[in-house]
Amino acid sequence: MDKKPVHVTTEKVREVTYDTLLSFGVDKEMAARAAKTLNTADRRGIDTHGIARARFYDRAIRNGEINLKPNVKVVKETPVSALVDCDGGIGVATADIVMDKAMELAKKNGIGMAVAINGHHFGAAAHYTIKASEENLIGMSASPSLLITCPIGGTQKLLGNSPNSVAFPAGHKTPCMMLDMASTTVAGGKIEMCIRAGKQMPEGWGLDKNGNPTTNPLDVFDRDIQFVGSMTPMAGPKGYCLIVMFELLSGLLPGAATGLKVVGSGGGLGYFMMAIDPTIIRPLDELKADLDEYFLTIKNSPKREGVEEIFLPGEIEHKITADRAANGYDLNPAVADEVLELAIQYGRVPKDTTVYELFDVK
Ligand SMILES: NC(=O)c1ccc[n+]([C@@H]2O[C@H](COP(=O)([O-])OP(=O)(O)OC[C@H]3O[C@@H](n4cnc5c(N)ncnc54)[C@H](O)[C@@H]3O)[C@@H](O)[C@H]2O)c1
Repeated sequence: MDKKPVHVTTEKVREVTYDTLLSFGVDKEMAARAAKTLNTADRRGIDTHGIARARFYDRAIRNGEINLKPNVKVVKETPVSALVDCDGGIGVATADIVMDKAMELAKKNGIGMAVAINGHHFGAAAHYTIKASEENLIGMSASPSLLITCPIGGTQKLLGNSPNSVAFPAGHKTPCMMLDMASTTVAGGKIEMCIRAGKQMPEGWGLDKNGNPTTNPLDVFDRDIQFVGSMTPMAGPKGYCLIVMFELLSGLLPGAATGLKVVGSGGGLGYFMMAIDPTIIRPLDELKADLDEYFLTIKNSPKREGVEEIFLPGEIEHKITADRAANGYDLNPAVADEVLELAIQYGRVPKDTTVYELFDVK
């Protein structure tokens, strides 16, 4: 008999994420920020980068890659820039602090760029740009990632997949247009989801350890989610070039680790965060009116046969956010089991607890 779905609220998922991080030893302030970042992904339907990452951070902490009580500090500052030392703290919290700094500078001086050293895996790039967008700033974020990509024509993994995001403020009546993506064909988390589901992955996502195309996700990751193969850059050489250029901005510019200097699953990574106040160019009202017109012109343009709807960047996630906030959603059952296992392992709940009890499923 099929198990009942684990139908959750996004708020309960945030609470469980927070408790899970606390049980790993992450301090309260960092855990609260980290849980919020991860929950942005879960609220928006980016199920690969929310609570599903609990096991990944647990392993990184046990490997000693993450400082549980970091002293995050600005080491150099100008009116429009800051260099932040994240002291090895959990990336989904420290990157949030770095974006806050970029936004503070943008509000004071029109433009703020904050880059960082000693970061770690920063999760979904969208979390940081949405924060800026919600305050009527244009946001940009990028980070290298753990080593998962080979240079075009090469066989050695020397590159990450440069997750990056750009978001504009919302229009008067249209949602924020926002790009959030890995610079590989897909995010590694999507391959991980294929392993959880026991499915093959589509052609073109990954290469085996000899650099040959494969549809078996276990040729890319082993069962412990360690990379054995590699991922393909999106759009061939263009994706590869994007990966490199974002590594320069978010890794080389601040002086953070890239390539073989990255420790484990992200130790020493850098971040690039930028916020721009559009009113340094023209009035916000005018820009918002043009954003509406731009959005609606594309939205209502002629569709190819068989296509029901044209979407703008970020629109699908915007709709999912509204739906999940109103109705909750079914948590991936494999992810729910992993989170329960961790809760039992860290002694947070009795051994006979069910996922339904852990997530308050009625
Ligand atoms: N921290 C890390 O190391 C890391 C690495 C890679 C990716 N990530 C994260 O993984 C997540 C998933 O990345 P991805 O590349 O698989 O994303 P994706 O392919 O699901 O989406 C990429 C972009 O395309 C847009 N989009 C998708 N379908 C669309 C359509 N039909 N019409 C219009 N726009 C559409 C989305 O709004 C999004 O902005 C992102 O949140 C990314 O930041 C993190």
